[in-house]
Amino acid sequence: IQEGLCTSRVGTRIIFLHETSSTNDLAKELAALGSPEGTVVLAEAQTKGRGRLGREWVSPKGGLYFSVILRPRLAANETAKLVFAAGLAVVEALDQLYCLKAETKWPNDVLVNGRKVCGILSETSIKNKLADFVVVGFGVNANFSVKKTLPEPLWENATSLLAELGRKIELDALLKKVLERLEKLYGLSLKSGFSPVLKEWKNHATFLGGYVEVRSGNECFSGLALDIEEDGSLAVKLEDGRVEHVFAGDVSLRRKSNKAFK
Ligand code: BTN
Repeated sequence: IQEGLCTSRVGTRIIFLHETSSTNDLAKELAALGSPEGTVVLAEAQTKGRGRLGREWVSPKGGLYFSVILRPRLAANETAKLVFAAGLAVVEALDQLYCLKAETKWPNDVLVNGRKVCGILSETSIKNKLADFVVVGFGVNANFSVKKTLPEPLWENATSLLAELGRKIELDALLKKVLERLEKLYGLSLKSGFSPVLKEWKNHATFLGGYVEVRSGNECFSGLALDIEEDGSLAVKLEDGRVEHVFAGDVSLRRKSNKAFK
């Protein structure tokens, strides 16, 4: 895999397993033991793949599952914004390799034709108010049919690269491209702050300006998705005109007319 990988730190060490519980869990263990920045843990399948908010990430063979250890010198509350670099890296990789136009969806999904093709799980370990390490895990539905492989509740909102491209892809090539894009965007985030990456991420965020339903903790409300703020929160305009800022939660797109909000 490392052959022809054009990076200087991301992917300089790659650990490959046919199967593991969760690449994020293994990467966190290795990071805690001192594994260097850029270490990648890659698995063909996961038996306990984890998604955001404690959900399961079903990880059959044919998908691309990997986690990257990063050691940014950032305050703990800044590291959440790395998901924008991660999501954008996937969007750029899909475009560059397959001319596939993907969309970003807050906070950390990548969609194709409105359905989720990739999820990202970023987990930070903190030491003295600073990030000790961040593990960014990517799960891409690649070479399998959603209906034949994933449980029925996921069928409506999930897609795979196989379905979108009509052919299987080379997983190693996609991994390399995502790692290369990630290194660029991570470097840019550290050098220039998150604004340039967030700006580009928003260029692919077709949900912005649309009507969304938000679930955040025990709260559920709907409104117009206005913007992503510099702090990474999603600004939503409610029917009464107030603007809510959401820091963690889930967004689903609603098919209601936006007219009421204009
Ligand atoms: C989500 O959309 O909820 C995030 C899904 C993240 C899945 C990836 S697969 C590789 C890495 N290992 C895990 O256990 N989770 C992430």
